[in-house]
Amino acid sequence: MKVCIIGAGYVGLVTGATLAELGNRVICVDNNEEKIAILNRDEIPIYEPGLKEMVRGARQAGRMSFITSIAEGVKASDIIFIAVSTPPKADGSADLSAVAAVAREVAENLNGYKVVVDKSTVPVKTGEKVAETIKRYSKGNGEFDVVSNPEFLREGSAIYDTFHPDRIIIGTSSRKAADLLIELYKPLNAPVIVTDINSAEIIKHAANSFLATKISFANALAHICEASGANVEEVTRGVGLDSRVGSRFLNAGVGYGGSCFPKDVSAFIAIAEELRYDFGLLKEVERINKTQVDYFFNKIKETLWILEDKIIGVLGLAFKPDTDDMRNAPSVKIISRLLEEGARVKAFDPRSMEKAREILPDIEYCDGPYQVAEGAEALVIVTEWNEFREMDLKRIKELLHQPIILDGRNIYDPAKMEKLGFIYKSVGR
Ligand code: UDX
Ligand code: UDX
Repeated sequence: MKVCIIGAGYVGLVTGATLAELGNRVICVDNNEEKIAILNRDEIPIYEPGLKEMVRGARQAGRMSFITSIAEGVKASDIIFIAVSTPPKADGSADLSAVAAVAREVAENLNGYKVVVDKSTVPVKTGEKVAETIKRYSKGNGEFDVVSNPEFLREGSAIYDTFHPDRIIIGTSSRKAADLLIELYKPLNAPVIVTDINSAEIIKHAANSFLATKISFANALAHICEASGANVEEVTRGVGLDSRVGSRFLNAGVGYGGSCFPKDVSAFIAIAEELRYDFGLLKEVERINKTQVDYFFNKIKETLWILEDKIIGVLGLAFKPDTDDMRNAPSVKIISRLLEEGARVKAFDPRSMEKAREILPDIEYCDGPYQVAEGAEALVIVTEWNEFREMDLKRIKELLHQPIILDGRNIYDPAKMEKLGFIYKSVGR
């Protein structure tokens, strides 16, 4: 099929590359000229395992191209995905101006039947607005249907997630459009739910909010465990093995970050408010998440007392492993607080240091974990990259000025750390 993807960010690129891999012809459009130039040089502006090779292969096979003109992309395609950013406004609600502008430009370029698919995460009723906008600006030229088809991919495993989705949600009132998308996704062999557009939009916010609720629940449990001498890992394992609960997304730590959970939880609260429902449960989820970073910072402070002029080593900057994404990364808050208290920070992350430099210019960036440890008063673990799990801890201990590790992701066994002679503090254990 002929597909156009508007917005070549994380979601747009991964969706485009996957659809091209399945044999479709994909045109990716982005209004960022620099991004398009980079993609046309066979480079990728983001780090996502496997994406570069896949995009390069698809481009060289002539199945994927990158342009800045929506008009051109729309005219040459049957299915048009909208995957532009929907960033949060100051009040937490989503800024839909990019979606609206794209809908208008799509409308002005209709030349025959098109299915316009919203992939961006948007508040319920956006699909209706997109349909109204297209109808108004197309002035009767060309037929179209609007579909809500949210994505559930996780950064770091986005390609795997796109090829192996738990479900595909197709929200539309048009049988013709639903059938076209069912055909498009057929090779993925995934369960498909065809529903109305409003339900599809709510499914996305509800899914992310529920996962965020699980994380905040685990973080709340961590406090109870710590105060009572229990171990949160044992507790969440015991709870999660109940198949009604499920063990995933119950890891306590420094809280959730990234481009989705913080934004989607606050957007869902705002959506509820607009619909005159006070979603107090989610407000609490958000509050727990915000205070989790403070709690971890206080742990560092309690352990080290005065931070002024102390060298603190930080391992992990990205909001989670296997990505270079620094959006809403807990590391930024923790490091900023350390700097405010006069500490000197050395840090390492396997992928995100280039992006981190723009946000945190006043810290020392190191070549690896051992360089971070050298001469530091303590080591603080913020992102659970596998290479930190596999470090030579004896060597780390020798390099540190004091054998102190504060682990915000519970990656080591407390008993083993004690045996090795570390002062080791983690979350809820
Ligand atoms: C996506 C979704 O759009 C968002 O709603 C969802 O919650 C998370 O995933 P993401 O792909 O991560 O966002 O965003 P980003 O990497 O910022 O990519 C958006 C792209 O759209 C950028 O490349 C940007 O240049 C482009 N864009 C934005 C346009 O082409 N036109 C616009 O008007 C605005
Ligand atoms: C998320 C959703 O998982 C995905 O379905 C959606 O489409 C986009 O948002 P992503 O933000 O890429 O994906 O990462 P995810 O793996 O969900 O992690 C989000 C945050 O939660 C990270 O900061 C992570 O460290 C944190 N987290 C996750 C925890 O603190 N504990 C957990 O148990 C799981």
